Amino acid sequence: HEEFTKVKNIATIELGRYEIETWYFSPFPPEYNDSLNLYFCEFCLNFMKRKEQLQRHMKKCDLKHPPGDEIYRSGTLSMFEVDGKKNKVYGQNLCYLAKLFLDHKTLYYDVDLFLFYVLCECDDRGCHMVGYFSKEKHSEESYNLACILTLPPYQRKGYGKFLIAFSYELSKKEGKVGTPERPLSDLGLLSYRGYWTRVLLDILKKHKGNISIKELSDMTAIKAEDILATLQALELIQYRKGQHVICADPKVLDRHLKAAGRGGLEVDVSKLIWTPYK
Ligand code: COA
Ligand code: NA
Repeated sequence: HEEFTKVKNIATIELGRYEIETWYFSPFPPEYNDSLNLYFCEFCLNFMKRKEQLQRHMKKCDLKHPPGDEIYRSGTLSMFEVDGKKNKVYGQNLCYLAKLFLDHKTLYYDVDLFLFYVLCECDDRGCHMVGYFSKEKHSEESYNLACILTLPPYQRKGYGKFLIAFSYELSKKEGKVGTPERPLSDLGLLSYRGYWTRVLLDILKKHKGNISIKELSDMTAIKAEDILATLQALELIQYRKGQHVICADPKVLDRHLKAAGRGGLEVDVSKLIWTPYK
């Protein structure tokens, strides 16, 4: 079916100091379709077909960080919250950019309904986007994350885990449990599995006595179904007398924790200045 076999259009993009090879098709406006390369302003995310256009743009663009509020700063890491309604063009540009690295997500949603949490590495030239996640302002399904992306030059350094941890810290502040929107990509699922495993097993290791899935969910803001699935995949759940029981032999926990990989960059909650969207 023609509609579903869209061929990759843009081969490479330039963004800040990086030239990045793209992974998938993204539905840029038709006038960009004859262009193999696109040049992005790393701050406002406007994109252009020619390098000279970008150079001219950079002389007059006075953004040095994503539009919106800086809600977290720890060392050189910052998080900005961008409201898709107040910054529509930025939100749309971010979606075009992200789709280049996302296989299955559609872009047919309205950016008005989303908040974008943009992670940056900051230096004296400005705040350089590393990755982001989006979140619906109001989710019926208790989704706390819609799309997540770490830009390829920054992948496998722990930023994905940082973004996931951050999404749960926001849920904790809201006093709600959350779960990522499905379907997740292979890399997305791997990252989530690692995060859930580490968070849950760290608690089980320290905890004395019985603990229920509900209690784990209250402590972590991870949805009960995701906790059950994680512990089941690790074979830490037994079904006894009609009940799920968590079996947490310390040696087994240590083995799983080792296999779950590195912890990634920590979110320092004391540096998060944020009130839930109303
Ligand atoms: N191969 C194998 N495992 C991988 C991997 C790869 N290329 N990339 C990530 N992982 C796994 C590893 O277990 C890794 O932990 P480790 O490095 O301690 O072994 C874990 O995922 C997370 O690594 P981390 O560095 O924190 O994540 P990241 O910054 O690379 O970002 C994604 C992870 C999913 C955000 C990133 O791969 C991405 O943007 N992918 C494209 C977009 C996407 O698929 N998003 C999810 C769907 S909504
Ligand atoms: Na990374």
